[in-house]
Formats: sequence, structure tokens, C-alpha cells
Amino acid sequence: MSQVHRRRFLDTSAKGALAGLALNSFASTGRAQGANSRIVVGVMGLSRGRALAVGFAKQPNVEVKYVCDTDSTRSESAVKLVEGTAKKAPQAITDFRRILDDKDVDILVCAAPNHWHAPATIMACNAGKHVYVEKPCSHNPHEGELMVQAARKHNRCVQMGSQRRSGDGFKRAMQELRDGVIGRVYLSKSWYLAIRGEIGRGTPADPPAALDYDLWQGPAPRTPYISNRIHYNWHWFWQWGNGELGNNGVHTLDLCRWGLNADYPIRVSSSGGRYRYNDDQETPDTHTVCFEFEGDRKAVWEGTSCNRHGSGFVAFYGEKGAMDLDQNGGYRIYDGPKDKLIREETASSRGDNEHFANLLDAIRNDDPSRLNAEIEIGHKSTLLCHLGNIAHRTGHVLNCNKKNGHILYDDKAMELWKREYAPDWEPKVL
Ligand SMILES: NC(=O)c1ccc[n+]([C@@H]2O[C@H](COP(=O)([O-])OP(=O)(O)OC[C@H]3O[C@@H](n4cnc5c(N)ncnc54)[C@H](O)[C@@H]3O)[C@@H](O)[C@H]2O)c1
Repeated sequence: MSQVHRRRFLDTSAKGALAGLALNSFASTGRAQGANSRIVVGVMGLSRGRALAVGFAKQPNVEVKYVCDTDSTRSESAVKLVEGTAKKAPQAITDFRRILDDKDVDILVCAAPNHWHAPATIMACNAGKHVYVEKPCSHNPHEGELMVQAARKHNRCVQMGSQRRSGDGFKRAMQELRDGVIGRVYLSKSWYLAIRGEIGRGTPADPPAALDYDLWQGPAPRTPYISNRIHYNWHWFWQWGNGELGNNGVHTLDLCRWGLNADYPIRVSSSGGRYRYNDDQETPDTHTVCFEFEGDRKAVWEGTSCNRHGSGFVAFYGEKGAMDLDQNGGYRIYDGPKDKLIREETASSRGDNEHFANLLDAIRNDDPSRLNAEIEIGHKSTLLCHLGNIAHRTGHVLNCNKKNGHILYDDKAMELWKREYAPDWEPKVL
């Protein structure tokens, strides 16, 4: 982690409303200590989680002890995958609370659907575990704030899975922006382009025999099983997902926010909708969101889920020039007046392995401030997605408090700050 980043994290934490919470030493609650200590991991949710399980298993002195999924076909196949990598088979389980109950386990890796991220992370912190939680870190803004509280209260390392924060090319590009390569950065634009198909009209059905649908729903209020939601398509329903903005927009908005050196927006607006298919999906397939920050700075995200025309990942606009960033951390710098390419830097990694290693390093050094995507950073970037979706769902332009992103003068919009929970599942920091 660069000195700049480290200082910035400490500054933000110290200034934050949560700074007064007690900090324990890991020694009081955690196991892993020392540069080479063995670290034991349990992985929850085995689609993205398969890559995470293999990635952690390949790290030195790490054991993946559990692979957990509410769909037993997925956990059984993940056992073989990890065994092939690590030569030691993990246990296949259905209920992640077994991971939390096992005193040997240091890290819960959560790659279950979005409605699980905050409840599982908070329960894990309460149980003394460190956490790698996939992006977006929460299903709604209130949960993100609770996650920061849980990490602080229990002094746990909680890393969000925005892996580019650890990618070498991205770190170099951001350092160049900080050093003024294009002057003061005032605008960032980002895009997600895909060709997703329609999901049709689902029908009520019995859940598949291999799926524990009650546990899959967990914290979300109960709804009958419908044929076209699981797996993956839950992303397009507000009950569990956050649309394309929370799915892929969070990756690029995190980079926009990093390059702009911005925290919370002061104004958020959204336009778009479901323009392509007339099916069951609720979230926009065509979406443009604008975030204004104090000091004349702005970020724009545009998602087209059903059309790949055009190109672009992230771009920064400064007073002396511009920078384009690609998916793997390569970047190009253009001068201002002529918009002429003046330098190109190549890179070829999204940063996944470095991101896992960064979490292990922070745990072994008893120091959450080493994390590249510490949960407070993850929360701020995820919050942009939530605010964009709230602006879309209410049709309102949101004015926000620059100190914490809370929506001002708009009770209707603030109703979406939190969600309802299934009985006994509301997350609580203990
Ligand atoms: N960082 C990245 O690059 C990246 C890439 C892909 C996905 N993701 C994130 O990973 C998460 C999962 O996405 P996906 O595409 O794998 O979704 P998916 O629906 O394909 O897989 C989710 C899995 O979690 C399981 N699950 C649900 N509840 C569970 C529980 N209580 N315990 C254990 N398993 C449970 C489901 O049965 C399913 O197998 C999402 O939040 C997504 O944003 C991140």
C-alpha cells in the first residue's frame, strides 16, 4: 500500500463518525499472528466463490477448510476443484454458520448474493472472523454503515472484493493522477457494456431438491420460489440484487472515486429504465447516473446491459489533459490542448491474487489500515450505487450530506436507505 493511500485511510478513519469506537488488538480475539502464520478460510457461495476458493488455496500457508453453498451440487464440485489445487479436500457444507462456529477459521469469504453480504459479514465480525466480502459490500446504505461499525468494534480486517484496488497498473495510474499528470481531475466517466438476454416470465415452482431455498433467502423477506430467479438472475430484482449498477458499476465507480479523490457525493441524478426486453426483470438495462462532489468534481456511469456498441472502461478529465484506463490497469495519457496521446502504460492484471494477499498481509500484521479496499472504502463506493438506484426508483434528484452521503430533505428516498428483514435475521453489531 502506498504511503498516500495509507495516510488517506487513517485520515478518513480518524475523521469519521465511527472513530471513537474501541479498537482491540487482534491478539485478544483472533488467531492469526506473525508474518508466516497459517490462515484458515471458509468460502460461502460457490460461483464467484470457486475462483476465490482456488485463489486463497494457492496463497502460501493458507488452508481452505470449508466450501459452503445452499446448492449442494455446487459445494460438491467445489471440493474437487480446491482439492485439485491444494491437494487437501475442504469440507462441503450448506450452512455458513458452521464456519463461524469453528475456532480454527480466520476468514469468512462471502460470495453469496448481495442480500447476504452485510448480514454474513457482521455475523462473522461478531464471531471474531476477518472477512473478504464480494462487491457490492451491501444490499442497502444502512447495512454498509453497520459493516464499518462491526469492523471497527471487533477490530477485524474486512476487505471488499474490488480487486482492482490491488492491481499494479491501477495503483500506478492513481499515483500519477495524485502527482498531477493531467492537472486537477474534475470529471470521471465510466461504462459497462454487455449483451444480456431476456429472462422471460417465471412461474411458481418447487425449488430444486439440491437447493435449500429457505437458507438461500436468509435475511430477505420470504417470497415463493419462481423458476427464473436462481442462480444469477436475482441480480435484476430489488429483493436480493442491485441491478447492473451494483453488479458491475461498482467496479468502475470505485476507480472513479479513487481517481477523483472523492468521498461522498452532494448530488445524485439518474435516468434510464428497462428499454430492451419486456420480461420479469426490475432493474434498469439502460442506465446513466451522475454524481456531483464538492469542489466542482463529477463522476458519470453509463450501463447498457443489452448492447455492446461503443467502448470504454474508465476515463479521467483534468485541467491539463485526460487519462483512459482499461480493465487490466493499462492506461493512456493525453495532453490537454491537442488531445494527443503522449504516453501509454501497459498492465495485465485485475489484481485478484494481490487482493487476496493484501488481506492476508493485513491480518498477519494485525493492521486493518493496510487493506487496499478496507470496508469503509468499499462502503463509500457501494453507496454511490445505492444512491444511483434510489434516484432511479424514486425519480428524484438526491441532495446528499457531504460528510456521510445521507439523503437530505427527502423522506421518500430515505425509505430506501434500509430494508425489511426476515424474522431474526436483521444484522446487529454485538
Ligand atoms: N469481484 C468480482 O469480480 C466478482 C465477479 C463475479 C461475482 N461477484 C460477486 O459475487 C457474488 C455472487 O455472484 P455470482 O455471480 O457468483 O452469483 P450466483 O447466483 O451465480 O452464485 C451465488 C451462489 O451463492 C449461493 N448461496 C446463496 N445463499 C447462500 C448461503 N446462505 N450460503 C452459501 N451459499 C449461498 C447460491 O446457491 C449460489 O451458488 C455477487 O455479489 C457478485 O457481485 C464478484
